[in-house]
Amino acid sequence: MFPQTIAWKDNKVVILDQRRLPAEEVYLECSDADMVAEAITTMAIRGAPAIGIAAAMGLALGALGIAHKGFPPFYKELNAIYATLKATRPTAVNLHWALERMKGVCVINREKGVETIKELLVNEAHTILKEDIDINKRIGRHGKDLINDGDAILTHCNAGALATGGYGTALGVIRSAWQEKKNIAVVATETRPLLQGARLTVWELTKEGIPVTLITDSMAGYLMQRGEIDLVIVGADRIARNGDVANKIGTYTLAVLAKEHKIPFYVAAPLSTFDPTIKTGKGIPIEERNPDEVTAPWGHRIAQEGIGGRNPAFDVTPHRYVSAIITEQRVIRPPFEKTIEQVLGSTWQIDRSSPC
Ligand code: MRU
Repeated sequence: MFPQTIAWKDNKVVILDQRRLPAEEVYLECSDADMVAEAITTMAIRGAPAIGIAAAMGLALGALGIAHKGFPPFYKELNAIYATLKATRPTAVNLHWALERMKGVCVINREKGVETIKELLVNEAHTILKEDIDINKRIGRHGKDLINDGDAILTHCNAGALATGGYGTALGVIRSAWQEKKNIAVVATETRPLLQGARLTVWELTKEGIPVTLITDSMAGYLMQRGEIDLVIVGADRIARNGDVANKIGTYTLAVLAKEHKIPFYVAAPLSTFDPTIKTGKGIPIEERNPDEVTAPWGHRIAQEGIGGRNPAFDVTPHRYVSAIITEQRVIRPPFEKTIEQVLGSTWQIDRSSPC
């Protein structure tokens, strides 16, 4: 069974604190929206779909705490909570998608009264969580056929149950292949600087008995050159209309290496990770985090005092390096400009920048 990343219990949002894994399994109980926002910013919960679910639950929790009975003052306060949650992390579009969806529920039902709206918001957050698990399983079903018996699969960061409502996207594909009794082995990059691969992916896969070997990020090319990697699968934080993919820093390097060694490079992501408002990867905002995470990780200084550092949390892989994108609907292949449009269909028209 996969770990439960996030749950709603007795009007609290319960979050598995990923900063403390794998040493301790500790759960944070968030009783208001600010606590949820803090959990997202500090990466107690992380991963594009997971922070979308957290933001939706945070907004529902915030709504429950609003005392106003009339719609206009209720909506004004809800908007302030929405803005706080939206500002937590900029790159993963799932967070913005989930918040827009929640706001839509509020506006469509404005005539029903504030108490009913509160109930509907809680229900919607539950639905987003439930749907996400289902979507991941569908991604897994579509993706597993891309994996052959005996394959060694390289993955980066953590795109597993911990990064989603459950099951995972990239790791969901691996889970599905494993459940079909394919004899596979995973190679996980440690994923500097926050070590999501070393701390989370290894923990998650080991729990399920899936064979996994840990490497440092810089070892990937060596293994590919020696023919020890058959395919790469990663998740995504935002995908532009042309198929450019933003994902954890280091993904681009792996994609270029994969192309050089003629190894398929797959991206597994739900349709909520596509951003129809963005034409190419150039338009994707990239989160820059505190350079201390590089120079003094986990409070342990490894570079001399006063040295400068850079800490972009994501990079953009141009679509020409991507062999296919595995979604809940189907596996999308190049030419992405055409195939992505076919899959997204009517959602293409949605303008996410407009207020609901
Ligand atoms: O900074 P993080 O840990 O939130 O970054 C996570 C990733 O880059 C994942 O690969 C991505 O969100 C996809 S998760 C299904």
